[in-house]
Amino acid sequence: MTDKLNPIQDLHRPFAQKEKPEREPDEQGIHELKQTLEALHTKWWDVRCLVPETDLAATAKRTSAGMEEADTTVAIRETEEDISGEMGGGQTRIAAEKGIREAAELLQAGETIAFPTETVYGLGADARSTAAVEAVFAAKGRPSDNPLIVHISDPVQLSGMVANINDTARALMDAFWPGPLTLVLPVVPQALSPRVTAGLDTVGVRMPDHPIALRLIAEAGCPLAAPSANRSGRPSPTLAQHVQEDLGGRIGGILDGGPTGVGLESTVVQAGDDGTVTILRPGGVTAEQLAAVARAVVLDPALAAASPGEDADSPAPRSPGMKYTHYAPRGRLSVVQGPSPAAVTGWIRAALAEARARGERTAVLAFDEHAASYAGERVYSLGKRDALHEAAQRLYGVLRRCDEDGVTYILSESCPTDGLGDAVMNRLLKAAGHRVVRL
Ligand code: TXA
Ligand code: MG
Repeated sequence: MTDKLNPIQDLHRPFAQKEKPEREPDEQGIHELKQTLEALHTKWWDVRCLVPETDLAATAKRTSAGMEEADTTVAIRETEEDISGEMGGGQTRIAAEKGIREAAELLQAGETIAFPTETVYGLGADARSTAAVEAVFAAKGRPSDNPLIVHISDPVQLSGMVANINDTARALMDAFWPGPLTLVLPVVPQALSPRVTAGLDTVGVRMPDHPIALRLIAEAGCPLAAPSANRSGRPSPTLAQHVQEDLGGRIGGILDGGPTGVGLESTVVQAGDDGTVTILRPGGVTAEQLAAVARAVVLDPALAAASPGEDADSPAPRSPGMKYTHYAPRGRLSVVQGPSPAAVTGWIRAALAEARARGERTAVLAFDEHAASYAGERVYSLGKRDALHEAAQRLYGVLRRCDEDGVTYILSESCPTDGLGDAVMNRLLKAAGHRVVRL
């Protein structure tokens, strides 16, 4: 299938050049995309009408505000057909339901399907089938020593899959599932394809907080191994169009559920028998939220190392994925930290002007509070600095946008590492290959 990718990239250039990364393409665009992908054996189902809008907003809000009570009013997002009349609305819904069933059947037949979760889009396959899981690694170009997260729709599916769930792990499930938390648990030998765990005696499991993901898993009737649905090394997809850009023509299908809510991946943790929770990868559930449930929360020492590879003595990461270069835009990205916003904006302006004088195409990733300081520059917004769930939602789209705009030199502001800021800075620093300018 790989040789089929190139033609589609050119066909879809018009999407890549659209103005805002967060925006969804118009109906006509989706229709054209669907036809082209089907010609290349990647099916496209528009299932956006099945996503209650407040579900995702509520997840993002819970995540940023530390489990504050989510707004319980649910307004179903209505497509144009839904609004135009009962018949039309019914048909849209029926088509979407049919799409989920078709996608589930393809999964049962060993195909790979991309689907939305509350964090990022995942590329799913039957976690029990080695051939299906191998197709995921092949489509992504992912190193085979990096294990995959298994997604379930009901904790009942853990029986026969994991050997032991200690009290702390159980308390975390009760508190955060469904949600952006992956628990690393001892795996029952032979319950899953050995390719899922990359030979480890543990498996990372999560129950996603997204109606499409939950229905797809339930309908397929099997646990789904699903890494983020991007080519290895690229930013994770927060829109179905991102999946298409990276994997169109290489996978069985894409369920388009619109933009994801949190925008960054789940937090990966291991719960020790002594009640200590170790964060292997920061993500949608914050350390502060975990601390409200666990006896103690610690960071995997590998996370504290400035740059994997730079420091020969740094401990080997317990979450193997943390050692790979991730999310990097093609342009050279550096993160700037300084004693005051004025010092940072002043330095960035001067550095961008200097880079332009060398012939670079420049951009700055900035928080809204400082945007006015960059008049005349190409500015990509990370949202408000005091509402970091916005940076989480936007970061990957912005990094992709840098590539689409052909930017060669990028400077980014930074944010504090409390709350969701920890995950934002973790991904930003990885995208920058740990290039930090400290003023
Ligand atoms: O939000 C998410 O977690 C997304 C969505 C699709 O669910 N998935 C995701 O998967 O980010 P992936 O494969 O891109 O990242 C999986 C991370 C990697 O860092 C991997 O090393 C770690 O989880 N991981 C998986 N199984 C593990 C295990 N048994 N022990 C330690 N780390 C594990
Ligand atoms: Mg990933």
